[in-house]
Amino acid sequence: MGYLEIAQKKLEEIRNKDDYYILAVETSCDETAVAITRGKDIISSVISSQIEIHKRFGGVVPEIASRNHILSIGNLVKEALEKADLEFKDISVIAVTYGAGLLGALLVGVAYAKALAYALKIPIVKINHIKGHVYANFISHKDLETPFICLLASGGHTEILEVYNYNEMNTLGKTLDDAAGEAFDKVARVLGLPYPGGPQIENCAKEGKNTVVLPRAFKGEKHFNFSYSGLKTAVINYVHNKEMKVEEINKADVACSFQTEAVGVLIDHTISAAKKYKHKTIAVAGGVAANTALREGIKNAGIKNKINVLLPPKNLCTDNAAMIGAAAYFAIKEGAPAENFSLDADANA
Ligand code: KG4
Ligand code: ZN
Repeated sequence: MGYLEIAQKKLEEIRNKDDYYILAVETSCDETAVAITRGKDIISSVISSQIEIHKRFGGVVPEIASRNHILSIGNLVKEALEKADLEFKDISVIAVTYGAGLLGALLVGVAYAKALAYALKIPIVKINHIKGHVYANFISHKDLETPFICLLASGGHTEILEVYNYNEMNTLGKTLDDAAGEAFDKVARVLGLPYPGGPQIENCAKEGKNTVVLPRAFKGEKHFNFSYSGLKTAVINYVHNKEMKVEEINKADVACSFQTEAVGVLIDHTISAAKKYKHKTIAVAGGVAANTALREGIKNAGIKNKINVLLPPKNLCTDNAAMIGAAAYFAIKEGAPAENFSLDADANA
């Protein structure tokens, strides 16, 4: 039997089981992450962040990210196994993020997964990074049932999804330009705050007030799409105007005003979408879901509107491999095939 036949057979043997171990690999951006999961449980999860490396460039440099994934991945897999007190022979499946993300960075994870799968003669299941973020909610809320609404806000994506299962997610609204996290990062840069901007803006905003008037895109329109480029440009213009007049900028007030608007629109659209489509549960996902103003705001809006709002812990909102393992568990149950060695990374998946 060739590799694919063996892999497919092994996948069929576990498809309806819950007690096997998945080794999950995530290298889509600047975090090298490996986790071992079983069903919806995390057995071990390790992350090597490259933030300190990219900070000096003010953002992620793709080539540098790829090189650092190569340096870290082997040791992280060893560490994940050690922490789980398991060996390679205990692993039944490798789950790997194949997209969306930086092509070179994704390729490191995909190539590693293929090599390991060949050596161990076990199946590879490919996982979409965005769907992975959604599945972080199944780890933190074990009784979560579909369908539900998911607000996904990360550095590359901002979407409101109606989630039926891994293969069926209906997009109710999405950004037409910048992603929410991207806007946080760009506004932080204009304010002279380091990368990544989200946590920096959040911190800076604590000392500020919502005093700078900023625009809301699509005001009064009845769809759930987002646009962050107008908001971002308004902040940039405000800062440049002040600089030209040699007036002092209250960074905390700018950060607070931007954050209030940036998360306000996420909350308003998500609650409206849940009401329109009669959903009683909203799950939140992606790096921006680590933002306290968003977490508190959407939780309170949920209480007001009698909608159950689920928030994974912050370390499951930002990039991690445990969410990829959890997504794989569900994808396998739904019939995901074993991949062969032609599996490729897809930056726009
Ligand atoms: O999901 P994620 O870790 O990676 C992507 O898939 O993009 O999201 C990263 C994004 C960055 O833009 C970062 O600035 C933003 O999430 N972020 C935050 C916070 N923590 C991370 N944005 C706002 N507030 C935060 N606390
Ligand atoms: Zn992500």
